[in-house]
Amino acid sequence: MRPTILVTGAGGQIGFELVRLLAPHGEVIAADRASLDLADPDAIVAAVRGAKPELIVNAGAYTAVVRAESEPALAGAVNGRAPGILAEEAKRCGALLIHYSTDYVFDGAAATPYPEDAPTAPLNVYGATKLEGERAIAEVGGHALVFRTSWVYGLRGRNFLLTVERLAAERDELRIVADQVGVPNWSRALAEATVRVVAAGLPAAAERAGLYHLSATGRASWCEFAQAIVGNAQRPRVVPITTAEYPTPARRPAYGVLATRRFEAAFGFALAEWRETLARCTASTKERAGRSPGSKSASASD
Ligand SMILES: NC(=O)c1ccc[n+]([C@@H]2O[C@H](COP(=O)([O-])OP(=O)(O)OC[C@H]3O[C@@H](n4cnc5c(N)ncnc54)[C@H](OP(=O)(O)O)[C@@H]3O)[C@@H](O)[C@H]2O)c1
Repeated sequence: MRPTILVTGAGGQIGFELVRLLAPHGEVIAADRASLDLADPDAIVAAVRGAKPELIVNAGAYTAVVRAESEPALAGAVNGRAPGILAEEAKRCGALLIHYSTDYVFDGAAATPYPEDAPTAPLNVYGATKLEGERAIAEVGGHALVFRTSWVYGLRGRNFLLTVERLAAERDELRIVADQVGVPNWSRALAEATVRVVAAGLPAAAERAGLYHLSATGRASWCEFAQAIVGNAQRPRVVPITTAEYPTPARRPAYGVLATRRFEAAFGFALAEWRETLARCTASTKERAGRSPGSKSASASD
């Protein structure tokens, strides 16, 4: 029998990709914010009990890093408490839970890639609430895979790729932070990796329950990421600046590269280098032609 798969945050960057890619592997119930508000505990319980899924993939999150500083209660409900409720309900119905977290649980003081058990010390409300969510899942003690990732971009939503593309069309010069280092990840590559884990069988995935770092390889500053997006064009010029020159209400870690050895050992594959994946993403011209023009603006969310 095909498993029932509940995907929350189905309208988001990863959620959108998951819904399409999981379809051959089960009956997918795509719950976007309009149909399931993750800030409403009763709605979460009702959704899971109604769906009776074998797999829950929680791709929903409050990802507006700057806005979270002024909306900590809502960010806490969605990122901190909803994952625990989903984990409870997954345990109750015998489902596997897959959840995503972030490199922003770290303070960025490291100089080498963070392993899963490195001490956490989030610098902003978003990171603190995501850490709360990880802990809530761990406390439930059911079958859950938590994938920490970083710098997610894609062809829809609000993200750095689309912001740089828009600004590149408007300006001669882009001033981009060069003293924050991390790894860009295409939402589709993350969804593909998730589906590959699921496709190997839910019991096998459940046996590997735990916390993993899931990321492309390599590293980049935001400035290098922007340069790679702009490519060899004469314009715009990409000018490196410091974080101090671009102050925002949310502090961000200076270093967020995640060590992915544990994931590779458990699941037997690694993600590609980030530049290779970016090239694959930007080559997806068909979709780009079809995406809605009003859906993107502002800056990278995470
Ligand atoms: N984006 C990044 O750079 C990044 C980096 C590391 C880890 N992650 C993690 O990766 C996962 C997926 O992120 P993403 O990049 O796909 O983010 P995204 O594009 O912002 O998607 C998140 C989705 O959650 C939805 N959502 C927000 N509040 C909700 C609520 N109260 N109830 C139901 N849904 C709600 C959003 O809906 P609206 O669009 O209507 O708000 C959006 O569709 C998250 O766990 C995130 O923390 C993201």
